[in-house]
Amino acid sequence: MSEHVVTRCEDRVLTIEIRRLGKKNALTADMYLAMGSALERATTDKGIRVIFLRGQTDCFTAGNDIAEFANNPSSDDGPVSSFIDHLVGFQKPVVAAVGGPAIGIGTTLLLHCDLVFAEANSKFALPFVNLGLCPEAGSSLLLGRIAGEKRAAKLMLLGDTFSAAVAKEFGIVTEICLSDDLMKRAFETALELASKPARALRETKSLIRGDLSVIRQHIATEKNLFRTLLRSESAQEAMKAFLERRKPDFSRLED
Ligand code: COA
Repeated sequence: MSEHVVTRCEDRVLTIEIRRLGKKNALTADMYLAMGSALERATTDKGIRVIFLRGQTDCFTAGNDIAEFANNPSSDDGPVSSFIDHLVGFQKPVVAAVGGPAIGIGTTLLLHCDLVFAEANSKFALPFVNLGLCPEAGSSLLLGRIAGEKRAAKLMLLGDTFSAAVAKEFGIVTEICLSDDLMKRAFETALELASKPARALRETKSLIRGDLSVIRQHIATEKNLFRTLLRSESAQEAMKAFLERRKPDFSRLED
């Protein structure tokens, strides 16, 4: 489905590797579709007990493909929504390994993962406001729950890049690893989970996460706002500026 999403199953762990090297693993519609269908397959496949989501040691993902957003702001958001929907409803454990940038959805998707291993120099950001957008994937609710509302406001309103140490302090990251250890440590933990009783794991994950209807409702609200903002002049200016490698100028825009 997408050459940029590589999957492999080993010892009951399905690895989903994001691999679009020249573009910092920026996610396109095809890549969301491929990741969503890997999760869908893993839902019913009894041979898969755990998902291991990763990029490379020096790059997790720079988030949604900005060129795709800029060129077609009215495009169908089905692939992103479907991927998020599968991730939110996914009952088996998801382990993520983050090295390098984890921007936008690269950070928000981590809020739905159960264990997150991050390389010491990895960088996180929620730059939605700076792009004229609002947060997605339930992050405007979940981050407040995980980190506290004041911390969520700091990360989301200012949109600055933050370190693995801050991500760990705020509860987004479980454990910080050295670069050479990252993939091994995260995969070994996925293998350890895969060896545990499957139903007990599922039920425990479900108990930790509680009622998902509130989060699904919040995601729907975010999605509507996001689609509206994506067509705004500010968002168009911000994305054009990124692609033209210049600072955006919002001074004359009213939205
Ligand atoms: N969408 C589309 N293309 C992207 C991208 C994205 N989110 N992130 C990076 N790229 C592309 C760049 O345009 C560049 O392509 P080019 O070589 O064809 O010009 C290539 O990936 C390398 O990116 P570059 O910015 O040169 O790398 P860097 O190491 O200097 O910076 C980042 C890395 C991740 C800090 C920077 O690319 C960045 O800020 N990306 C945007 C992140 C973002 O705002 N994502 C949120 C989307 S909602």
